[in-house]
Amino acid sequence: MWYSVSFALICVASVVQGLVFRGSKEQPCFNISTPETPILDQKWASSIDPIYYPVMSTVHLYRAAVDVLQKDPKDVRLSTVYYDACLKWYLHDNGTSFAKGFNGLAREFARTPLKDNPDGFTYVGVGGDRDFFAGTLYTTLTDNKTFFFAATCMKNGGMAWGVGSTTPTLTEETKKIVLDHAVSLGFNREDFTELKYDTCKN
Ligand SMILES: *[C@@H]1O[C@H](CO)[C@@H](O)[C@H](O)[C@H]1NC(C)=O
Ligand SMILES: *[C@@H]1O[C@H](CO)[C@@H](O)[C@H](O)[C@H]1NC(C)=O
Ligand SMILES: *[C@@H]1O[C@H](CO)[C@@H](O)[C@H](O)[C@H]1NC(C)=O
Repeated sequence: MWYSVSFALICVASVVQGLVFRGSKEQPCFNISTPETPILDQKWASSIDPIYYPVMSTVHLYRAAVDVLQKDPKDVRLSTVYYDACLKWYLHDNGTSFAKGFNGLAREFARTPLKDNPDGFTYVGVGGDRDFFAGTLYTTLTDNKTFFFAATCMKNGGMAWGVGSTTPTLTEETKKIVLDHAVSLGFNREDFTELKYDTCKN
């Protein structure tokens, strides 16, 4: 079991490196400091319906796509990930989150809040054979109005980030804030990608 999981993760890592994602090597997890007061207004976050996912580190998108598609990583094509993902997130108060995309697919995740960080929770995929996206997510920046930035420590020890947004695109101003923040946390500025929702069917 453990062997096969680590083997699968090694495969993901090598596939990720084999793709032309620029600088998409996974960075090891680093420390996220615990804020004295919550950063994120959870009530606001769970009222966003749907949460768009316009900008993220390439590894974050790739892992999300493999997980939602429940496909062998080597069968997940770059073009599919960029243009057909159309991923939207739904955060429910009962501790369930859904990722929906790829023209009708849905993936359920179970969240467990962290005891020592009000802005963190661990999450695991519910059912399915491939659990590539599981990890711990920390919101580290938000305006409680239009977007929130989440740094994720994946189960394999890699770090990634993604932005949840009330709109399918971010303003240039917000994008700059988000990228500056990613860099301040230690992420590589060039290693991000954007999802386009223009051609999404639903
Ligand atoms: C993370 O923080 C903990 C507790 O402060 C410390 O023991 C550990 O060495 C830190 N790890 C890194 C990678 O900085
Ligand atoms: C967002 O909401 C949280 C929880 O109410 C609060 O602690 C935080 O200061 C707010 N941040 C902003 C930027 O409004
Ligand atoms: C949580 O709520 C959502 C939306 O109502 C529902 O689809 C899901 O099955 C619920 N999950 C659990 C574990 O109750």
